Amino acid sequence: MNFHVLTLFPEMVLDGLNTSIIGRAVSKNYITLDAVQIRDYTLDKHNKVDDYTYGGGAGMLMQAQPVYDSCEAVQKKIEEAGRKRARVIYVTPGGYTFNQSMALDFSKEEDLIFLCGHYEGIDERVLEEVVTDYVSIGDYVLTGGELPAMVMIDCISRLVPGVLSNSESSVTESFSDGLLEYPQYSRPEEWHGKKVPEILLSGHHANVEKWRLEQSIIKTKKIRPDLYEKYILDHPVEEKKKRRKQKSCNS
Ligand code: ADE
Repeated sequence: MNFHVLTLFPEMVLDGLNTSIIGRAVSKNYITLDAVQIRDYTLDKHNKVDDYTYGGGAGMLMQAQPVYDSCEAVQKKIEEAGRKRARVIYVTPGGYTFNQSMALDFSKEEDLIFLCGHYEGIDERVLEEVVTDYVSIGDYVLTGGELPAMVMIDCISRLVPGVLSNSESSVTESFSDGLLEYPQYSRPEEWHGKKVPEILLSGHHANVEKWRLEQSIIKTKKIRPDLYEKYILDHPVEEKKKRRKQKSCNS
């Protein structure tokens, strides 16, 4: 997977992603990370990339030309390397909300271009020409697209084969099955008077798995009722069990 980030702050993206698991994935060539300075493509003699918004309103807007030229330069590089033109993700609070299934979809691409906005956004005309996906990381507004792009790159990278070792594997984590993760415990067996649940010490694999699923369901129902309702619809057996339990409580 080759990530290309179009940004006014390339060092922020490179510095933020060069440590830990993602840094290791870059050094082992499972992923590549290229941060492109949009300002390098401006034709303005003062290196300006922003201007006032037509129609008035507060704040400046990133202009179409440097965004377009920086994006096309990356696409050209990709094509010259014999790969197909990349999807271009515009990182914006006005996009579809990022989630695990989107991450899985993106992780199948060979190249991804992230376009990070600043100021009040980017001229609509260039967005119409280059962007394939509009993605937000949540219902709040940040000062720029770099942090959201880094969040998405981290999440997508860990789905790329080889990036996680077996012990770091993502298979049983929150969201992989639509549920939040069950509670986990390490040594010692007792800490601050709190004991590790007996069942986890039993060595009975099937019972441990059953307990973990129950805990995941309980936690999801409490913290994310929206995910719980979806899980129940997708797993009618759990719904039956729930109704049976309710019946026996009512009688
Ligand atoms: N840019 C500013 N805020 C953002 C958000 N929540 N998601 C994606 N991009 C953003």
